[in-house]
Order: sequence, then C-alpha cells, then structure tokens
Amino acid sequence: MNPSTQDILVHTEAGVCTITFHRVDKKNSFTAAMYATLAAALAAAEADPQVRVLVFQGDATVFSAGNDITDFLERPPLDQNAPVFQVLRGLASFPKPMIAAVCGPAVGLGTTMLFHCDLVYAGDNAVFSMPFVNLGLCPEAGSSLLAPQILGYHRAAEALLFGEPFLAEAALEAGLVNRVVPPTECNALAQVQAKKLAAKPLSSLIETKRLLKKGQTPAVLERIAEEAETFSRLLTAPAAREAFTAFLEKRRPDFSKV
Ligand code: COA
Repeated sequence: MNPSTQDILVHTEAGVCTITFHRVDKKNSFTAAMYATLAAALAAAEADPQVRVLVFQGDATVFSAGNDITDFLERPPLDQNAPVFQVLRGLASFPKPMIAAVCGPAVGLGTTMLFHCDLVYAGDNAVFSMPFVNLGLCPEAGSSLLAPQILGYHRAAEALLFGEPFLAEAALEAGLVNRVVPPTECNALAQVQAKKLAAKPLSSLIETKRLLKKGQTPAVLERIAEEAETFSRLLTAPAAREAFTAFLEKRRPDFSKV
C-alpha cells in the first residue's frame, strides 16, 4: 500500500486545505491506498492550525464512484482499523468546516461523506446514489442515522432501499446540497466560499460547528461502528460477491440463488 498515492492530491493555501480525488480513469473510486492517504490528510488537517477549512473535490465530470469494487472483492475491509473506517471516523469527528464540490457521479461514500460536510455545492450534472442494497451491502458512514435526519425518513428510505440515483435539483430540494451551479463553476465556488470562511476566527468556526452538530458526534461514531460490523460481514457473503463480479464482468447481477 502506498500511503502517498497520487490518486489523492492535498494542497493547502491561505487557510484552505483542498483534497482532490484524482483517479478519473476509474471514476475516482477509492482504493485502500487512497483511504490511507485520506485518513492521514484528515488527521494532518485537523492538527494543523494553518488549516481552517477543508474542501473535497473531484473534477467537473466526476466526484467519486465510491469504493473500488475490485478492492471490495480482493481486499474486503474486515477490521475496524482498516483505512476506510479510519476515514469515516475522521470525517465524523472533523472539527473545522468541510465543504464538498460535487460534479457528476457521487456513488456510495461519494454521497454518504456529504452528510458529514457542512456545505455542499453541486454541478448541475451531479448524480447521487447509495446503492448498498443493490450490492448486497448495508448503509455505511453513519448514513443510516444521518440520511433520515438530513433528507427526512421517507426520502432516506427510498434512496437507501432502492439505491436509485437522484439528481442535483432533487438533492437541493431535499437539503443535501446548498447550491447548484454549472459544473465548470463548482470547484471555483467551493474555493470562494472556503476562502470566505478561512478569513473568519477559527475558534468561532469550530465552536459553531460543534454546536450545530448538537453534540451528536458520539452517536454518529457508534453508528459507524455498528454499520461497519454488518457491512464487513455482508462484504464476503454471496450476494455481494455476485454483485461485485457482475459489475466487473459488465453484466446485471443474478440474485436468484443468493
Ligand atoms: N470500482 C472499480 N472500478 C470502477 C468503479 C468502482 N467503484 N466505478 C467505475 N469503475 C471503473 C469501471 O470499471 C471502468 O473501468 P474500465 O475502463 O477499465 O472498464 C471505468 O471506471 C469507467 O467506468 P464506467 O462504468 O465505464 O463509467 P460510466 O460513466 O458508464 O459510469 C458510474 C460511471 C460511476 C455510474 C459507474 O461506473 C458505476 O456505477 N460504478 C460503480 C459504483 C459503485 O457501485 N460503487 C460502490 C459503492 S459502495
């Protein structure tokens, strides 16, 4: 595993740490090496007093296709200390403002990480989905707790049980997204907003975020752990193996025997 993979770019300037997903040929899907880099970047950004705001972005065509499915098949994260779970805990407990700029597909963690972000800007080509059930899995990243809170129960149930994609306008209406802009303007808008926040007093930003979160971080961390246990068990079960193999073989999964 290469902890400094070039698939994740980290750049800090004028108080803003920007994390760019940079594996566009694989739709910015996350490998274990990328999670290790992300976990380290989150920890460093939290500790660095020069960092006041964190921004996540892909490019104008794709945010992230979620977990790398080959990795799921060959190296399923079965241990709560796996890099992916470190990232989830890092996202849930990050004390400074986090902004996401989302264009194109945001699948799985590409969507569920947004529940942890404080501000989300979307390109009008953004497509969100949480297809865990269709992959034989269950919600992760605390999404079974946060999706109902943010989207409302019935919208969350629809998004999580069917796993079907929803578009930027629906995400805006549901309250997952702050603003929808042309894809070519999305990353720039996130930077403008991040710079505005970075000019404000850090201690007030941190206290305000803490109060906004209403002290629910321990409950979110507990849910992440509970989901992770189930998720890891389902990862190696026949339904998920069939779903992953079908994706890689570019065919529809056949769940009739699982
Ligand atoms: N893991 C591994 N590889 C992935 C991937 C993933 N999650 N998502 C995309 N890729 C790869 C494809 O296999 C393809 O590789 P290839 O060029 O070697 O064949 C390449 O990225 C391009 O993907 P493709 O499916 O051709 O792009 P698209 O524009 O038609 O569709 C997505 C984009 C994101 C909608 C589609 O790739 C997708 O559904 N990916 C799987 C998402 C998923 O289920 N993630 C797991 C969530 S828990």
